Amino acid sequence: MKLVITKNYAQSAKLCSEMIMDVVREKRDSLLGLATGSTPIQVYDYMVKAVKEGNVDFSGISTINLDEYIGLSNSNHNSYFYFMKKFFFDKCGIKQGKVMIPNGTADVNMELERMNNYANSHQIDVQLLSVGVNGHIGFNEPSDRFYDQYHIVNLTEQTRKSNSRLFTSIEEVPRSAITMGVGGIMRAKKIAFLATGEEKLNAMKAILEKGDVTPEKQGTILKFHPDCTVFLDYAVAEKITPADYVEIHRV
Ligand code: F6R
Repeated sequence: MKLVITKNYAQSAKLCSEMIMDVVREKRDSLLGLATGSTPIQVYDYMVKAVKEGNVDFSGISTINLDEYIGLSNSNHNSYFYFMKKFFFDKCGIKQGKVMIPNGTADVNMELERMNNYANSHQIDVQLLSVGVNGHIGFNEPSDRFYDQYHIVNLTEQTRKSNSRLFTSIEEVPRSAITMGVGGIMRAKKIAFLATGEEKLNAMKAILEKGDVTPEKQGTILKFHPDCTVFLDYAVAEKITPADYVEIHRV
């Protein structure tokens, strides 16, 4: 695991976006694994800017998203499909036929089959990732097991509360979601992991410090990934004592 300690979130997002774009520059038909939430927004902003300036060409890529709320339609402003269209797809001209995101209002079993069939027959070249306050990656909530495939998950009250900032009230936040399992995340060739903010400190400690890999903090499994780079700003990183096997780069 590599840890890139940056001056601030903006620099983390820029470097993270550069890592993803370098993969696409090397292989124009890359499959990008994508994430939503507040943390990756600036990554998308940088990538959109690079497309406009002619510094990267996304016309050959395909994408697969980690997760979607069950019950929210594609046109719902809080759905992850809507998020992706708004921050990335529409701005970069990425066509719907190149995009895999669970559909939150389709038949759940058929949707799991559709996502798993695709995920099991295509390898992600680079996976963009962030972490929840409770250590979740994708929507893999604290559990007594690690899931391999896309599956249904009940969202914890902590996650619902944390994500309610984007909804009018907590009652509106869905209680369940479809998420890629950590098995799918771990099969990505490369992981570009971005985190920021004091509220993520405990999750990042569990991932970067010496300690067990545990499904109670699902992100800890990243310790086993052969090519995972974490971008973390100094304000958070200075409170962490990374394990000896973490390769540290200060920029
Ligand atoms: C979303 C996802 C989640 C978020 C996490 C952090 O696709 O996979 O794991 O990355 O909940 O969300 P923010 O960035 O909003 O704190």
